[in-house]
Amino acid sequence: MKIITINVNKGGAGKTTFAHNFAEWLRKKERVLLLDFDDSVNLTHRYGYFSDIKTTVVSLFSEGVVEPIQVAERLDLIAGHKNVELLKEKVNMKRRREELFGKWLAENQKELESKYDYIIIDTENDEGILTENAIIVSDLVVGIAEASKDSVVALSSLREFVNDLNHDFEENTQLAFVANKINLTEAASKELLEVLKDYPEYSGYLPRRTILADERSIYDQQLTREQDKIKRQVSHVFAKILAKVAAV
Ligand SMILES: Nc1ncnc2c1ncn2[C@@H]1O[C@H](COP(=O)(O)OP(=O)(O)OP(=O)(O)O)[C@@H](O)[C@H]1O
Ligand SMILES: [Mg+2]
Repeated sequence: MKIITINVNKGGAGKTTFAHNFAEWLRKKERVLLLDFDDSVNLTHRYGYFSDIKTTVVSLFSEGVVEPIQVAERLDLIAGHKNVELLKEKVNMKRRREELFGKWLAENQKELESKYDYIIIDTENDEGILTENAIIVSDLVVGIAEASKDSVVALSSLREFVNDLNHDFEENTQLAFVANKINLTEAASKELLEVLKDYPEYSGYLPRRTILADERSIYDQQLTREQDKIKRQVSHVFAKILAKVAAV
């Protein structure tokens, strides 16, 4: 079972879009567990869950108990919760607070490994305690950048953050960078790709398209032939990410 976290300390870059589409691509062949660590609860909303969820990441972190919801064939979700901000305050008071999620994984290892091939975690745009918990246990962290100067800075900060955590917790979490919302006719997009192409972590880009701005994944939409090309391009990036995880 491999674990992949999607993060960058920059809002709106496309973390949730990536996590959602990647999970939908992956579940065609693999069994996937998605986790929503973001207090905006966007990923959970995309699956039509807004409230009345019995157990969420809040119960996972506070009681160590959670019941994943099956949202599609071969895809379960551990839902997010709007009270994650409060949860983070509580978790920050605990001993070994960075390792609580790892502890839950270890306690449930047998069951998780019998049910899932991959765990994908969507995180907030922060370097907070839940993000730390996710990164420490991950085989791979995917950092997302949209075309702007501060995106490159955010990726460098993510690299430093992952390096620091690897050092402090004696882990070997790998990094991949993906550019998002790319429009090759625009200077900002071209400049971003120009910078990223020399980064060893760079793994490809997703174009800016309305089918990727949809609440539904590109695998759940009726696509034109032109849009189908985009889907193949995006799937190719996902395959590259998967190859990176496999190599860890
Ligand atoms: N490739 C794309 N083309 C067009 N629109 C996109 C693309 N990727 C993301 N978007 C849109 O950009 C917005 C931000 O994307 P998303 O919510 O995935 O970012 P995020 O990094 O998860 O944001 P947050 O920091 O708020 O969690 C959304 O409205 C989404 O639909
Ligand atoms: Mg998000």
